[in-house]
Amino acid sequence: MDRIRIVGGNELHGVIPISGAKNAALPLMIASLLTDDTLTLENVPHLADVEQLIRILGNHGVDISVNGRRERQGESYARTIHFTCRNIVDTTAPYELVSKMRASFWVIGPLLAREGKARVSLPGGCAIGTRPVDLFIEGLQALSANIEIDSGYVNATAPAGGLIGARYTFPKVSVGATHVLMMAATLANGTTVLGNAAREPEVVDLANCLNAMGAKITGQGTATITIEGVRSLSGARHRVLPDRIETGTYAMAVAMTGGDVILEDTDMALLDTALEAIRRAGAEITPTNSGIRVVRNGAGIKPVDIVTDPFPGFPTDLQAQFMGLMTMAKGTSHITETIFENRFMHVQELARLGAKISLSGQTAKIEGVSRLKGAPVMATDLRASVSLVIAGLAAEGETMVSRVYHLDRGFERLEEKLTRCGAHVERVSD
Ligand code: UD1
Repeated sequence: MDRIRIVGGNELHGVIPISGAKNAALPLMIASLLTDDTLTLENVPHLADVEQLIRILGNHGVDISVNGRRERQGESYARTIHFTCRNIVDTTAPYELVSKMRASFWVIGPLLAREGKARVSLPGGCAIGTRPVDLFIEGLQALSANIEIDSGYVNATAPAGGLIGARYTFPKVSVGATHVLMMAATLANGTTVLGNAAREPEVVDLANCLNAMGAKITGQGTATITIEGVRSLSGARHRVLPDRIETGTYAMAVAMTGGDVILEDTDMALLDTALEAIRRAGAEITPTNSGIRVVRNGAGIKPVDIVTDPFPGFPTDLQAQFMGLMTMAKGTSHITETIFENRFMHVQELARLGAKISLSGQTAKIEGVSRLKGAPVMATDLRASVSLVIAGLAAEGETMVSRVYHLDRGFERLEEKLTRCGAHVERVSD
């Protein structure tokens, strides 16, 4: 199994190209199930989760062709992938596939909307809390789906004439349930109004793509999304938006090590709250023509308190990385996690590097230390693993991160991007 070896202490200087967003690419790929035409997605990141979803979609009958010629884009490669689902050949998403990635549960929306039935295994995914699917079920029931849970599977059927538009207000903000309800409602009879919907940029990206396919969606990016059902959707060509989590992660890495880096092909507006927290920690952040410049010279890292929240709040997917940064702050900071109840697994690994962190309920208290010291550590989930990389970049000596398959789920060519900026990071294959 691969490991990542980091020798800390180098500043970061250079350019890091930001990939397309994993969390946008996944629902966009799933949207290809809604049409018998070709959906072409540009700027799709090359990640383990994307490859896994390609396998799952193939199982449902989607023909997938990746452009042989990869587009050159800065130092990175962005892939263009064509998805064509002439016929859905299987409406079952089996446990063996869905358990590997929670987002694959989302096929339930398009399968139900287009075929009138779906049998989808209850999901697995990152071990960061219980992550139930009650909101998906309640929402689909509001669209008149009949749902039964049997032997670990959700069996959903639509009324004979198809799903029926309705008004549904989420009791809690959920990105995935918003994606699914929005997709399902595009082909429903009548109008659906979703209240307390997720406002994440990835929801907006999906809505924009669905509209390019002929859907009639308004209000995306606000808490109320209105979807007027249409009879069918067509193909479209759509570019996946930049990955705001990758952007924030590298911005925090620069804030941690010091240096001067341009994050290319990204957009500050995608992560205002996180960038503001990094600024308050002492980094200078300015827009450039194609992205963001992050600089930190000399001055130490200042402690900053944050609380995670749905967009536009501080993203839970950057919480672990920010904690990595705060481990070396000059003072004490507090980080409160409000989205997932078990998202502090990085705490004990950061402690192995010398961080001083104590937990009380959903809040971590981080007392900054003047130095971290490299050690063997273990990645526990996708975002936690990259917080160990950030800490390792600033730690003295060698940090060896094991279980890097977590990193490969969400960070494209991480070691290459960091090495080009002067970091000492390498993949070690056993
Ligand atoms: C997505 C992101 C993930 C991010 C999360 C929150 C993808 C592929 N993943 O995950 O990276 O951390 O948004 O920004 O885009 N919940 C319920 N019942 C449900 C559904 C969710 O209680 O039926 C709860 C969850 O347990 C969690 C909260 O709602 O506490 C938010 O989860 P949700 O927004 O649904 O996360 P995901 O869409 O799975």
